[in-house]
Amino acid sequence: MKLTRPIQRLIETAVSARKNAYCPYSRYSVGAAVLTESGRIFAGCNVENASYGLSLCAERVAVFNAITRRQTAFKAICVVASLAKPCGACRQVMFEFSTKETELYLVSINPNNRRQTVTKTTVHKMLPAAFDPLASGLLPANPKNLLRNRQNARRPKKRKSSRR
Ligand code: THU
Repeated sequence: MKLTRPIQRLIETAVSARKNAYCPYSRYSVGAAVLTESGRIFAGCNVENASYGLSLCAERVAVFNAITRRQTAFKAICVVASLAKPCGACRQVMFEFSTKETELYLVSINPNNRRQTVTKTTVHKMLPAAFDPLASGLLPANPKNLLRNRQNARRPKKRKSSRR
């Protein structure tokens, strides 16, 4: 598969984030990365906890990392693992910030020879019949737009300087 330079960078970032996975319980390391429309990349790895249910998947860490930096438009997401397949919870979280076009790259690394197999799909294809915030009427418009509107709402209005 011919990959563009931004997608190559996205995959490299996810591969490298995987090395930081904190997974002493499962020993299953996962890396993820989000590429925004503006070309920025945000990484994530899975972070486990002695109280198992508190563990967080790499995909959600990457998505929340991007959202924390006020990113709203996701062009592509990448997941790297020995058999890369996002869990159901992460599919729903990625869906929240994806359009029909948001690409999803699943990079499986063969533990024996370190070879990578890249599968290209989309977030929407990976979650058919999703719980859709738009279709359910919970969001009035495209979630990306809603996020943008929220950003605008946060921006303080310019005040007319009142000269006395
Ligand atoms: N995990 C992820 O980080 N992403 C996935 O898509 C599947 C599972 C993590 C959660 C846990 O730390 C470990 O992999 C084993 O389930």
